[in-house]
Amino acid sequence: MEKRIKEILALRPSEDTIKAEGWVRTKRDSKNVSFIEINDGSCLKGLQAVLDRSAFPDDLVARITTGCSVSVTGRIVKSEGGSQDIELRAESVEIIGECPADYPLQKKRHTVEFLREKAYLRPRTNLFGAITRVRNTMAYAVHSFFQENGFVYVNTPLISASDCEGAGAQFQVTTLDLENVPKTPDGKVDYSKDFFGKLANLTVSGQLEGETYALAMKDIYTFGPTFRAENSNTTRHLAEFWMIEPEMAFCTLEGDMDCAEKFLKYIFKAVLDKNGEDMAFFSKFVLPGVIENLEHVVSSPFEHMTYTEAVKILEKNNDRFEFPVKWGVEIQSEHERYLTEEVAKRPVIVTDYPKEIKAFYMKMNDDGKTVRAMDVLAPRLGEIIGGSEREYRYDVLLDRMKELGLDPAAYWWYLDLRKYGSVPHAGFGLGFERAVRYVTGVENIRDVIPYPRYVKSCEY
Ligand code: 4AD
Ligand code: MG
Repeated sequence: MEKRIKEILALRPSEDTIKAEGWVRTKRDSKNVSFIEINDGSCLKGLQAVLDRSAFPDDLVARITTGCSVSVTGRIVKSEGGSQDIELRAESVEIIGECPADYPLQKKRHTVEFLREKAYLRPRTNLFGAITRVRNTMAYAVHSFFQENGFVYVNTPLISASDCEGAGAQFQVTTLDLENVPKTPDGKVDYSKDFFGKLANLTVSGQLEGETYALAMKDIYTFGPTFRAENSNTTRHLAEFWMIEPEMAFCTLEGDMDCAEKFLKYIFKAVLDKNGEDMAFFSKFVLPGVIENLEHVVSSPFEHMTYTEAVKILEKNNDRFEFPVKWGVEIQSEHERYLTEEVAKRPVIVTDYPKEIKAFYMKMNDDGKTVRAMDVLAPRLGEIIGGSEREYRYDVLLDRMKELGLDPAAYWWYLDLRKYGSVPHAGFGLGFERAVRYVTGVENIRDVIPYPRYVKSCEY
């Protein structure tokens, strides 16, 4: 393999001939020399290659344009000018793929909205290169954290016949002819004629299946795509996003919260350790202070409060909220931000929410009103993690499902799990893009996933 630009930039001047391959970001011509900056995505910085004009034909130099791909061989020399220590004195230059003048990424700052429309080219910009490298570091850190702690990676299905969150925001999977849908005698859709012989959807969460593996392997995690047909046009919601869901058997909410805090700190620290150059870029161009912010999160203990305590604090400040708070209502993003940014000045774990606003599978508290839920809220963002201790008592779970009008027959295996060697267990879900957004300081979640899917948008 030829050296990447990142590796070349670490070289010292020498007599050795090396080859640099990449895409031209900029070219500057002077009378005697041309400077081209070559980038290959391996790091933020490009390699400056210097072409002695007398050594190369004019028409070749003219064909080197922003966006073209080149292979340049030469020697590393000390750089005379500017911001770099070394540069490549070109001995031969090959243009691999030319790039005409209608190339959309010309040398200027483009808006993220413009770049979203050019999503197939945006990884060639500084911003999206940096986001992509940070996302990669975080994905690797997710696996490292759980592997180092003895968790088993489990792949749960993407097509599912059960609705984990019971919220109905699912995408249906069907091979039925929508122009000519088969019907049962009483006029309903005849799913027995569909591919799976029943109604199937894209999964909203791997949790339910993950629980079955935790109750065999003790500690497991999933890391895969999830799909939600929520009609939320916000900077925090995607229709397709990646979720990390650990599930731990013989574990209660305390262990769950402890794991969530350690996990978040671990993946944030990995970025601080490995992506210094990219983080400096975000701090300069995206969100000033983002590095100190992250360092603060990594080094301070998360705040804990119950939903009831949180509501007491929020109620006192109801005049500043668009949606006033009282016990029983959902805590919205503005409230989450108030708790983290104004009250605690660090991440907050809120526990014991009213059962009415949480999913059916969460363990009921003795008060009969609240459940052992926990949300991790982060400054600037709001909810980053949602989790809970699970209801592991068969009868209590069955009653709860009936209360909510869920059909126990549809969840037969999930109920059976409580019949055969049930045990307290707990887990949580981290929205991967929310975490990447948080770390980079990038404003819109649509810019931290390569090809965002959201309402009325499925380009590429
Ligand atoms: O809070 P949620 O809905 O919890 C679950 O799905 C549980 N089954 C997790 C578990 O206990 N195993 O989603 C978990 C996280 C949220 O905190 C949020 O970070 C993210 O997933 N999330 C989204 N991210 C992007 N776009 C969306 N539409 C999201 N919905 C949830
Ligand atoms: Mg949630």
